[in-house]
This record gives sequence, C-alpha cells and structure tokens, in this order.
Amino acid sequence: MNNEIEISKNTMIVSETDTKGIITYANNDFCEIAGFTKDELIGQPHNILRHQDMPKSAFKDLWEKVKNNQTWNGIVKNRCKNGDYYWVNALVYSVEKMGRKRYISVRVKPTKEEITNSIKLYKKLKVKEI
Ligand SMILES: Cc1cc2nc3c(=O)[nH]c(=O)nc-3n(C[C@H](O)[C@H](O)[C@H](O)COP(=O)(O)O)c2cc1C
Repeated sequence: MNNEIEISKNTMIVSETDTKGIITYANNDFCEIAGFTKDELIGQPHNILRHQDMPKSAFKDLWEKVKNNQTWNGIVKNRCKNGDYYWVNALVYSVEKMGRKRYISVRVKPTKEEITNSIKLYKKLKVKEI
C-alpha cells in the first residue's frame, strides 16, 4: 500500500475509452500494473485510477485537447487497486472506430527527471486548488 511501482522500460500500458471516459479496452500491462482484471476495468470510468496528488488542471487540459482531436502528452501519477502508485508518460489521442469516436492512451516509463519535475509542478497546482 502506498508504494511506488516502477514500470519497466518494456512496459506499454494501453487503454481505450468512449467519449465519456468509460474504459472500453485495457491491455495486459494495464491490468498487471494497476492490479485490476480486465472485467474490473471495462465499463468503469477512467478516473478509477485517479491519484489524489494529480491536479484537476492536468485532466482539464487532457479533455480539452482530445475533444478537439489534438494529442495530449503528460506525466501522470496513477493509483493501483491496492493503493500503490505508478508514474507514466502518457499520450492520449482520438480515433474514429467504425464511425464512433474513441480515445486511446498509450503510456510508457517516464524519466526520473520528468517525475521530479512533475512532483514539483503538481504540488504547486494542488496548492492553488484549495
Ligand atoms: C483515453 C483516456 C485515458 C485516461 N487515462 C487516465 C489515467 O491513466 N489516469 C487518470 O487519473 N485519468 C485518466 N484519464 C482522465 C479521466 O477520464 C478523468 O478525467 C481523471 O481521472 C480525473 O477525474 P475526474 O474527471 O473525475 O475529476 C483518461 C482519459 C482518457 C480519455
């Protein structure tokens, strides 16, 4: 509980959502790292992973970008089912699948520097939220 899970450089966490952020696909790396089964993830809102240290503005920016068909890239701290957490470098973009809009996220291991910078930035942004 509350421990950092360091993802390996070979890990690629992929998920897909509908336009409301409901998970429609999760790959094996996603399930393994976050500690959920596919059944527990599919049909759930993506904020199932939301970590309290993440500022609201990061996700506001993400949603604005993908809704406008722009790609969002950011460093995200996510919560595992058991309360542990992991950092990812995430890319989020929209696709058209059989006439329906879907959002895809692909996440890889961030650098130590990206994590350190994000910790500092997100702390500042969280203070502003209160
Ligand atoms: C494709 C996609 C992937 C997302 N991945 C994550 C994620 O890994 N972690 C996370 O906390 N939110 C993720 N989100 C954002 C959530 O939908 C949500 O906006 C965020 O967790 C904040 O929760 P809230 O909107 O209830 O405040 C993702 C959204 C999309 C469209």
